Amino acid sequence: MQGWELADAPRLSGLRACIVIPTYNEVHNAGRILDLIRARASIETHEISVLIVDDSSPDGTADVVRDRMREDPHIHLLLRARREGLGKAYIAGMEYAMARLRPDVIFEMDADLSHDPEDIFRMLEGIEAGADCVIGSRYVEGGTVPAGWGAHRRIVSSCANAATRLLLGVRGVRDCSGGFRAIRVSVLERVRFDRMRVNGYAFQAVLLEEIISLGGKVREIPIAFADRDAGRSKMRVKDLLEGFTAFGRVRLRRMLGARMPRATPLAAGEE
Ligand code: GDD
Ligand code: MN
Repeated sequence: MQGWELADAPRLSGLRACIVIPTYNEVHNAGRILDLIRARASIETHEISVLIVDDSSPDGTADVVRDRMREDPHIHLLLRARREGLGKAYIAGMEYAMARLRPDVIFEMDADLSHDPEDIFRMLEGIEAGADCVIGSRYVEGGTVPAGWGAHRRIVSSCANAATRLLLGVRGVRDCSGGFRAIRVSVLERVRFDRMRVNGYAFQAVLLEEIISLGGKVREIPIAFADRDAGRSKMRVKDLLEGFTAFGRVRLRRMLGARMPRATPLAAGEE
């Protein structure tokens, strides 16, 4: 991990960022990721908060979060009644963050240490440089996936990307399904979450398509995606199936010309 130069901090404009982290059975990771983010965030000019969205994990993930909340007012917990999927957790978390914490930028991030908290600051710089959405990308030059990734994982990931291009018509983005992103709230506010019927992992690609169709500027910066070492992936076969139906539905709506009635698209040149 590369160290952040303290001397660089004054260049940054002090955006308020909220990092939304969905969790399901991450008792061995939740404390570690919160400590890592807190250790770094304190020396930055950005005001950083973290919102954990936990679907009442039976392993007690929420207790670990509550423990950290006692020491740090920048940590928040949105506890949901039952497991409803990654997409639903993100929608609830983003809506909560926008209404209650009022940041300028919302991050998506995994709890399992696959994403390096050090990259948060590079991603914020991309937002400051004018992007509406900065993707921590595994598939641009310099980005990597773990050497130990088996064929299964590689195939699922490249199918998700291919489907996003072919079915959703997303162009010019290499990592369409990744879960490490910084998004300007001014764009997120225009996304019609109420009409987005995706519960699981397909949310990532569907949200990306929405951001682009609203006129959002997307930029990718390379990240090294690490394998989780505690717990296991929560992706299920039903997530893959849901992906195809969700993409098909969006595509059909576009083809019929019945574009989702949107709030206001971004005006040209608007940040
Ligand atoms: N609240 C909640 N509810 N959280 C969930 C759920 C759920 O139903 N399912 C997964 N999560 C949380 C996990 O606890 C973790 O913090 C994060 O979402 C990502 O889940 P993983 O199970 O670690 O996902 P992955 O490693 O298989 O997938 C990664 O790569 C995908 C693309 O290849 C993630 O980055 C995904 O976001 C990404 O789409
Ligand atoms: Mn993971």
